[in-house]
Amino acid sequence: MPIKSRIRTVPDYPKKGIMFRDITTLIKDPVGFRLVIDNMTQHYLSNGVDFDVIVGIEARGFILGGALAYTLGKGFVPVRKPGKLPADVVQLEYELEYGTDKIEMHTDSLVEGQRVLLVDDLLATGGTALAAAGLVEKLGGVVAGMAFIVNLPDIGGEKKIREKGYDIYSLTEFE
Ligand code: PRP
Ligand code: ADE
Repeated sequence: MPIKSRIRTVPDYPKKGIMFRDITTLIKDPVGFRLVIDNMTQHYLSNGVDFDVIVGIEARGFILGGALAYTLGKGFVPVRKPGKLPADVVQLEYELEYGTDKIEMHTDSLVEGQRVLLVDDLLATGGTALAAAGLVEKLGGVVAGMAFIVNLPDIGGEKKIREKGYDIYSLTEFE
């Protein structure tokens, strides 16, 4: 069974009209989790995207990013929701479909010129990934690529991100 068929769709969560693509059914299965990590590991070992550190986005990006940092022999840096990181932080506010949200990184989490692979479970509007890229760049880092398990191309995030020149890799798509 491939990756896509292990992802559960929950209609009308968290609100009416949203088809929630739930990766918990994929990663609770040891074969599913291994498929994800092995595929991404092979991709980044062989495709020439050169990076120094993985930056994972709270919360589901931590699961994927942590495992990938281990297999690729890189460190892991978290992007967190406000008020969770204990030392000095930089913060960025970004647009959601309705309203705004904020994310933070530790000020000393990257060094100038460090190359980053941004990792999250899912790409929809691209707002979260682009905000995380903005934070990385604020800290002097360079976004070498972005990796997702799921891409929802119809929502437009992929196009927006590619237009800005970032490299994207994803394992599966839903309409
Ligand atoms: C989900 C997902 C991505 C983001 C993608 O996170 O894990 O981070 O939405 O959406 P976007 O491309 O439209 O920005 P969510 O905000 O639900 O947080 P969680 O991981 O803490 O559940
Ligand atoms: N984050 C934003 N849109 C989502 C969706 N449709 N499924 C899961 N996570 C999401």
